Amino acid sequence: MSDKVKFQAIKGVRDILPPESALWNRVEQTAREVFGTFGFAEIRLPIFEQTDLFKRSIGIDTEVVSKEMYTIPDGDIEHIRGLRRSLLEWEIKFGDFGDAELFLGLAVTLLTFIRQAQEDGLTQFEDVGLHALGDLTVAAKELSDLISARGLSKDTDTWNRLISLVERIRLASDRLEIGEDMSLRPEATASVVRAYIEHGMQVMPGNVKLYYMGPMFRRERPQKGRYRQFYQIGAEVLGSSDAPGIDAEVIEMLMRLFERLKLKGAVLNINSIGDKNCRPAYVEKLRAELQKVRNELGADSQRRIETNPLRVLDSKLESEQGIIAKLPRIAEHLCADCRTHYDEVKRQLGLRGIAYQENWRLVRGLDYYMRTTFEITAPGLGSQNAVCGGGRYDGLVELLGGPAATKGIGFAIGTDRLVLSLQEAGEGETPGGPAGKAAGPDVYLAWFGAAAQSAAIGLARRLRDAGFVVELPAIEMKFGKSLGLADRLKARHAVIVGDDELAAGVVTVKRLSDGTQQKLGEQELFSYLRAI
Ligand code: HAM
Repeated sequence: MSDKVKFQAIKGVRDILPPESALWNRVEQTAREVFGTFGFAEIRLPIFEQTDLFKRSIGIDTEVVSKEMYTIPDGDIEHIRGLRRSLLEWEIKFGDFGDAELFLGLAVTLLTFIRQAQEDGLTQFEDVGLHALGDLTVAAKELSDLISARGLSKDTDTWNRLISLVERIRLASDRLEIGEDMSLRPEATASVVRAYIEHGMQVMPGNVKLYYMGPMFRRERPQKGRYRQFYQIGAEVLGSSDAPGIDAEVIEMLMRLFERLKLKGAVLNINSIGDKNCRPAYVEKLRAELQKVRNELGADSQRRIETNPLRVLDSKLESEQGIIAKLPRIAEHLCADCRTHYDEVKRQLGLRGIAYQENWRLVRGLDYYMRTTFEITAPGLGSQNAVCGGGRYDGLVELLGGPAATKGIGFAIGTDRLVLSLQEAGEGETPGGPAGKAAGPDVYLAWFGAAAQSAAIGLARRLRDAGFVVELPAIEMKFGKSLGLADRLKARHAVIVGDDELAAGVVTVKRLSDGTQQKLGEQELFSYLRAI
């Protein structure tokens, strides 16, 4: 039996291979160009953050936070937790000094670890518990030393002292709040806002307009267009203004990008989900209506009546559709300010010639949204057809400890889905050729003999400097084999350098599509290749 190990990518993650990666680059490059023309600049963010950042911004009852986050316990923290568990669960045998001493030893180890983790800046501990445990552990060390040094007075008094100390250590470590988890980012809006606050970006002139691209992580059930590591291209506008023109311009920027990429059949859905003045009353009304039909709803929706009734609205469950259609609609419960804002967003979209569809059930799955929400669907994606989602989140900066008056709006495109939709629509062309078919090199530089190799290395360098894609065989091959490889690599030309060519100061250029060949000097070769 072979013991060869065969590794595979983890379920729900995937490799993006050439030539498809060229299409990804084109998409990302086009986004950079389009966003640049709207005055956006790139922000590069860490891939993991404190778990609490996501809990606080996205919301602890959301699917993303409660079920889908990859939370990484720090190595030392796990160890400390394990030690604490042992301390709490340890059953000291009555009268057994040795056992009690072991316990004290463990308490001392625990403190040492905590100190170390703190010194390394790995985590933060709640002060009270830490100090209490510190004092107690010093006491534990003293008592433990005393017992072993004197072989001591193994009397009831010492035993009682010991047991009372054990109890206090237990109590203290039970109260000790240990550490901070970090999580792989499930999205990047929270990180952008964290960075905005951390770097005091509110002092920058005008609105702060940032874009980002990169991987996000959610433990979702993998299927077409849904991955556990997926990619987003997102943009956020932060600043003191919540003018509806900002909402409309952000959406316009998205639509321009999709146009430039020739994404066909994109449909923009918009909605307003109100603000803290009008939404609570609507949510209560919705909850009350949902209570009346509770028994007709599925388990998820039943749960959401308590946790987040708005999310019932985007249920896809067939049996719930009739019920949802009869529920009260937020549009009829917006306060005057939200209504005016929403009307103006729509008017401004009109000014920009952007077609949209109002969708009162578009509530989005993250807690930070208010007022404008939007989603764009695209064809060719099956059930995961949202290629982009976004909205306004005016309270988020304040919620994360930043200046209260700061407003925000943004979106994130699911790059995997955008690429999929482009491919399905036959728009997967990349400058080098269609993604899906390999684009071969401009020149396959076949050399024969040591002198020719040296000449070929120089020529390859000059061709590449001029922007041509050159394949230079690393080892000498027989003529037939070398030219065969050029064919298989789909090279456009074979440029042949052998002793005869060297002697004559030329190269032989063979056009591989029809086999025609000619001898050219270097200048002529460049002109010939450029002319094609
Ligand atoms: P989201 O709707 O959770 O919003 O995600 C945005 C887009 O990311 C989705 O429309 C979808 O295209 C893509 N996406 C989400 N999950 C997956 C997955 N598992 N596999 C493949 N693609 C996925 C946000 O993330 C917000 N941060 C958007 C935002 C920015 N709102 C304001 N600013």
